[in-house]
Amino acid sequence: MKNQVQINKIIEPFKKQIRVPSDKSLSIRCLLFSSIALGKSKLFNLLESEDVTNALKSIKQLGVKCKKKKNYLEVNGVGINGFSLKKKTIINAGNSGTLARCILGLLSSSNKKIKLIGDRSLSKRDFSRVIKPLNFFGVNIRSNNGILPLEFTGSQLLRPIQFAENKGSAQVKTCIILSAINTRGVTKIKAYRSRNHTELFLKYLNYPIKIKKNKNYDMIEMDGLHQFKSFEYIVPGDISSASFFIVLTLLSRKSEILIKEVNLNSTRTGILQILNKMNAYIKITNKKIYKGELLGDIKVKSTKNFKSINCPVNLNSSSIDEFLLIFLIAAKSKGISSFKNLEELNKKESPRLDIAIKFLNMIGIKVIRKKNDIKIFGNPKLELKKNYHIKNFLKDHRIFMMSVIAALTLGGTWKINDKDSVKSSFPTFLNVVKMLGGKVN
Ligand code: S3P
Repeated sequence: MKNQVQINKIIEPFKKQIRVPSDKSLSIRCLLFSSIALGKSKLFNLLESEDVTNALKSIKQLGVKCKKKKNYLEVNGVGINGFSLKKKTIINAGNSGTLARCILGLLSSSNKKIKLIGDRSLSKRDFSRVIKPLNFFGVNIRSNNGILPLEFTGSQLLRPIQFAENKGSAQVKTCIILSAINTRGVTKIKAYRSRNHTELFLKYLNYPIKIKKNKNYDMIEMDGLHQFKSFEYIVPGDISSASFFIVLTLLSRKSEILIKEVNLNSTRTGILQILNKMNAYIKITNKKIYKGELLGDIKVKSTKNFKSINCPVNLNSSSIDEFLLIFLIAAKSKGISSFKNLEELNKKESPRLDIAIKFLNMIGIKVIRKKNDIKIFGNPKLELKKNYHIKNFLKDHRIFMMSVIAALTLGGTWKINDKDSVKSSFPTFLNVVKMLGGKVN
């Protein structure tokens, strides 16, 4: 079958050094910020994936000229309130929740009607979480019960808001921050801790933004309408992409990997903390700070005796995209692992909590669920022998990649659908797998 991979062999031991593709969150933020900077920005090492291509197409539709140079993208920023939109602009965010939610903030002061659409998966996701704060700013949004397509017109008379973001969603926080940039006056956000690339970017751009850290919340205060200059940025590797190879290595026999120049912002590295608590061999070297972001190399070795974990809820947000992989380690651990408050996991490209439980049951692992809390009964001797078919009905890239990692490390004969899903975040995923020796047909 086209667009399906078959795997029926565990990967042989490997010892390699790799690089993973550039960070998706930072690539999209680079494009959005450079579109409203004053002058020409140079963006090096942008992720080449569909989500980022859709972000680039979107800013071009707003009248921002972009030129592909030999080893960077040149973006001719138009400044805050400088977009020139055609009538009836339709922005297609494809599969990307980040693009869809953040661009709404970027466009909060546009004076033309814009339609926002996305693919089947994105069209099932909740937008009321951004519609609500945008309405408070004074943006007029029409939707079908908070889902796509949305039709909206920005306002030239935005009002600054005070808002409590309680989900730990960086997309919602970024949407509000971008809208605050378009707004005269001081916006205040009490944001449950989530990835903070947007705030670090603004600090690097010398934008007036104040952040006070409380235990689990950040208090953000920022004034609007401060123009900022163009910039240069080299996007580092994506920890979320690296995580597939971290877990592949941990679960393989006698293997070792060194993953170079990965973004290690602490709001992203929950997986490293969780796996370290579970006894995984993971070491960080070559740490450095680049424009406010921590980067480093990740060294991983095969590990045998994983311990179960009672996962602290305050690590949920910093490992939100990695839980599918963490569950695989829990499945191979001694004892019962417990994870709590995972409701956000069901709000991703597909309902990942529901799918993960079915997946774990399918491979013979007992899971008890109470609302959004789960207990995984690990089995260190887990070895698979049966046939498995992963249908992946919403074409979720992370479900596909996690299934490939399971197939290459746990045994059994696998058919995994929708290999094209990787185009949204990690188009070269199977090349890296093959380079490490994985047999994938
Ligand atoms: C992202 C934030 C997270 C994450 C997504 C990327 C971002 O989503 O799952 O893959 O770049 O801001 P939420 O903010 O909805 O949790």
